[in-house]
Amino acid sequence: MPWPGPPLSQDICPVNKTIEWGCLGFQYMDTDCHVRYVWRNGAWDAGEVVREPYLRIHIAATALHYGQTAFEGLKVFRCRDGKVRAFRPRENARRMARTSERICMAPLPEELFMEAVARVVKANPGYVPPYGTGGSLYVRPLLFGSGARIGVQPADEYVFLVLVVPVGAYYKGGLSPVSAVVMDEYDRAAPRGVGSVKVGGNYAAGLRPHEEAHKQGFPIELYLDAREHRYVDEFGTSNFIAITRDGKYVTPKSESILPSVTNLTLQQIARDMGMPVEIRPVEFDEIAGFAEVGACGTAVVITPVNEIIRGPTTIRVGPRNGCGPVLQSLYSRVQAIQYGEAPDPHGWTVEIPE
Ligand code: PLP
Ligand code: COI
Repeated sequence: MPWPGPPLSQDICPVNKTIEWGCLGFQYMDTDCHVRYVWRNGAWDAGEVVREPYLRIHIAATALHYGQTAFEGLKVFRCRDGKVRAFRPRENARRMARTSERICMAPLPEELFMEAVARVVKANPGYVPPYGTGGSLYVRPLLFGSGARIGVQPADEYVFLVLVVPVGAYYKGGLSPVSAVVMDEYDRAAPRGVGSVKVGGNYAAGLRPHEEAHKQGFPIELYLDAREHRYVDEFGTSNFIAITRDGKYVTPKSESILPSVTNLTLQQIARDMGMPVEIRPVEFDEIAGFAEVGACGTAVVITPVNEIIRGPTTIRVGPRNGCGPVLQSLYSRVQAIQYGEAPDPHGWTVEIPE
């Protein structure tokens, strides 16, 4: 039966040749299809490729009432040699499995995740931005409780789907630094809560503070540890990283931050460059002494942060304009591996045959 809703993706975007690759941002657009699997009676089905970007969902689904929902985000690149490769998808598979376990959802096998990613990318061949445009295909896996419950308990049915969206180069004219504001009126995640997994509710909780930061003119917000507001946790949707004046890579150790795949990658590249890497509690008061500060995540890799504002205090770090040299170099090295322009000694990229 045809879906009786808004037009299908094909009507909106008849040929993907119409995409202006140079103008892509980080916005949703319909593609040809997504892939969808259902967990019922204790097992995942074989999955299907679905053209309509709509779901029929039970009104009592646990995702809607009790927030039983998790997502992931990773990127797929058209490389210099013309091949299509995903960047560290297994890390996202493992993180999604941990998230699923934390909120009592169906177990998500790593191989199912890998299969779904490859399947959706292959089914949307025209949406992988060409090499040289700076774009990539953002892959968004989503897992949620679709079974009906009225009492607070885990669902007996789950949907795992993966959609894709072509996204553009975040920085067109070099890495531009931003000012961050410290959230003293809000916390992102409690110790022993769900900050270390990627549940949808964490992002709902961050919307109000993000809007407030935005209204004050700050694109990103920095959260401190919920217990004391003494240590740095992370930015709203990215990890905190810093370079010390004596050339160490420092990033917070905290039980309430999301273990970022980008951060793990940057740590390894820093080590490969001979830099010491420290993963330890980072006091807010240390920030003024750092040479460079950045926010890291899949979407942008690194956003340099050159000002951190907390109430009446402004802390300046790194160069006033542009990015500090160490973060710039880390950024360039990650991108070179992602686009297949540099060797991949750690085997981070996974080819998706077309
Ligand atoms: N921290 C939070 C809260 C995030 O939402 C994200 C990105 O989704 C990150 C950090 C960065 O993680 P990754 O590098 O795996 O994208
Ligand atoms: C990232 O990938 O860096 C993000 O911040 C993901 C965000 C859209 C939740």
